[in-house]
Amino acid sequence: MTMKHSALFMALAMAFSPAAFSAASAHALPKPVTDADYYDNGKPSEAKVELGRLLYYDKITSGNKNISCGTCHHGHTATGDALSLGVGAGGRGLGVTRDTGSGEYIAKARIPRNAQPIFNLGAKSFTAMFHDGRVENDASLPYHFRSEAGDKLPPNLDNALAAQALFPVTVPNTMAGQKGQNPVANAADAKKWAGPGGVWDLLADRLRTNPEYVALFKKAFNIEASEITFVHAANAMAAFQAKAWRADNSPFDSYLRGDKSALSRGQLRGMRLFYGKANCASCHSGKFQTDSSFHAIAMPQIGPGKGVGYKGLEDFGREGATGSCRDRYKFRTPTLRNVALTGPWGHDGAFNSLEGVIRHHLDPAASLKNYNCKAQPVMPSRPDLDAVDCEVQNHAPSVMAIANANELKPMKLSKREVDDLMQFMHALTDPNSLDLRADVPQRVPSGLAVWE
Ligand code: HEC
Ligand code: HEC
Repeated sequence: MTMKHSALFMALAMAFSPAAFSAASAHALPKPVTDADYYDNGKPSEAKVELGRLLYYDKITSGNKNISCGTCHHGHTATGDALSLGVGAGGRGLGVTRDTGSGEYIAKARIPRNAQPIFNLGAKSFTAMFHDGRVENDASLPYHFRSEAGDKLPPNLDNALAAQALFPVTVPNTMAGQKGQNPVANAADAKKWAGPGGVWDLLADRLRTNPEYVALFKKAFNIEASEITFVHAANAMAAFQAKAWRADNSPFDSYLRGDKSALSRGQLRGMRLFYGKANCASCHSGKFQTDSSFHAIAMPQIGPGKGVGYKGLEDFGREGATGSCRDRYKFRTPTLRNVALTGPWGHDGAFNSLEGVIRHHLDPAASLKNYNCKAQPVMPSRPDLDAVDCEVQNHAPSVMAIANANELKPMKLSKREVDDLMQFMHALTDPNSLDLRADVPQRVPSGLAVWE
């Protein structure tokens, strides 16, 4: 081979080899996910996982015993609830059939944010939970987590995922119910979470007095009935979520592990755009396609909000956790594993199509302005709730403030390029996540219904 030929050969070989591709693009491809990326090397104790699975789907953890974690994070709806904004305590049904209930326990308001998918949260890199990261690792604090509970947070939580599980049960509209309806709701209303008579103690008491649970806690933690706390329950639920909903066997994962035939040509083109020209990986970076940071991308705001801004109907995102107005309208960069399964999209489920939320990134200000707040959201209708859904979107100064906070530069992509990005999004689906029926128990120790 002449010098000239070998140089040409090298150039061709480089153009088609993945190493050369990552070197030539703006962002390197992530390294493949391995067991070591997860707590317990991805293998939490089976006894903890089984206990966690039952607790997760058991309404015993809610004040009025009418909602479980699984209601909003269900195996039938890709670990979410399939709604833009879900319905908490008092609602009836699952997925898109869920309504706001009736009678004394009727749901008071919509949940202000989209129920997050739970895929891969057993990975150690997910150090901040919720759309605003308000439950997060902080080694400087006595018990290693920062949260709304401050110094009342109990000790011995396994990780941030376990710390998160303490909170849904403390929120009246989510799980606790309304003041006057039950003792847990009364404690929640008084913001008495920790200590004797607090939300966590009252719930642990229900578990301590259920013989089937007592046996399961003994098996998982080697403790007696009197020693059961809600922290044990939280650790078990975290183990279940981590184990059941690990999802790192998508075609993209196979590709990263060396199977270069795992992606179609369209998916490869989409991957090159994602890590190259389209610059998606500047935020959706790392093994799980999130920089674990917070960004404002002018996502339209719908629903009841978080009690701030215009008529209290806005959601300031990360600012709610840090108190810094520089964090206004910033939300955690979502992981994109299984993203094709987890609609509606956005922190409030504002977009009902994956293409819609991707196109939003190309010109956020225009997309925000043109957003159709009546057509896009997927949620049960009730006149008093519907009345506030679009207030922020119809309020020009709020829309302008949200647009002004946007960090994304407008970008032109051809229709074919958007199609390629879509194909790449589909390459992030783990086939094992397509059917999660096996994670849903047919019965739970309390004997409460699991079918609604
Ligand atoms: C009424 C619906 C609802 C119920 C019930 C519910 N969740 Fe959620 N979950 C949500 C919503 C909405 C969010 C996002 C909230 C936010 O960002 O403020 C969320 C966020 C989470 C997250 C954070 C995910 C991430 O990527 O940061 C985890 C983990 C989680 N929930 C687990 C649980 C557990 C465990 C329970 C039961 C103890 C539970 N959820 C009960 C709706 C619900
Ligand atoms: C400036 C950082 C940034 C860049 C660059 C970026 N994103 Fe995002 N992306 C985000 C944030 C933050 C959200 C969530 C915003 C919210 O809900 O308010 C998001 C949401 C999404 C969602 C919805 C996910 C869900 O679970 O709801 C998809 C899909 C997505 N991005 C794909 C892309 C693609 C494709 C690109 C490249 C064209 C891209 N993103 C570029 C920050 C970014």
